Amino acid sequence: MATTPDSVTIRRATPADAAALAELGAATFTETFGHLYPPEDLQTFLAKSHSPEWWSGALADHNRAVWVIDHESGRKIGFIVVGKCKLPVQNLEPDAGEVQQLYVLAEFHNLRLGTRLMEAGLEWLASQRRSPLYIGVWSENYGAQRFYGRYGFNKVGEYGFPVGKTVDHEFILKR
Ligand SMILES: CC(C)(COP(=O)(O)OP(=O)(O)OC[C@H]1O[C@@H](n2cnc3c(N)ncnc32)[C@H](O)[C@@H]1OP(=O)(O)O)[C@@H](O)C(=O)NCCC(=O)NCCS
Repeated sequence: MATTPDSVTIRRATPADAAALAELGAATFTETFGHLYPPEDLQTFLAKSHSPEWWSGALADHNRAVWVIDHESGRKIGFIVVGKCKLPVQNLEPDAGEVQQLYVLAEFHNLRLGTRLMEAGLEWLASQRRSPLYIGVWSENYGAQRFYGRYGFNKVGEYGFPVGKTVDHEFILKR
């Protein structure tokens, strides 16, 4: 059955979503980037950064907000994490915000779901007076760079993002 706007609900995630978001976070990271790392580096990263404990902490953090997309099938199919900027930016502005994670399961891409998550996240960041905004994105993730470029994000720096023992070359985008 085709996924239409009526098939999905976008809502603010709560601590009760921690386990499901850990599963979805690991699945989306693995399908997008899993091929880039030795299996042990991927496992180290997922065990730390997409554990139910990590998500419980993120969902209880008042400096962050998470939206999740529920599909009518019962699956969760996408999410966005926004909050206070944690990127290694020199002379970071005290009120700087960040789009920290944005993922939609590949089988649901190009349905405007990323756009809807981005709108919810940007609206919350504006309501928290977070400015300017930053995003860290893999240097070769051209699709995401194009997506963020449409929101006025431009490259202002680079950094290394550790995934296990692998260090990714990432761009820092700002608007
Ligand atoms: C980036 C991401 C979240 C975008 O989600 P999405 O739901 O596919 O995004 P949208 O459908 O809102 O827009 C995506 C594209 O479809 C196009 N599109 C979708 N519906 C359209 C429509 N009805 N008419 C015209 N264009 C449309 C958009 O213009 C856009 O084009 P692009 O290929 O130039 O980017 C998604 O690709 C993703 O999860 N990628 C893997 C994870 C990732 O890289 N995350 C970012 C890490 S920093």
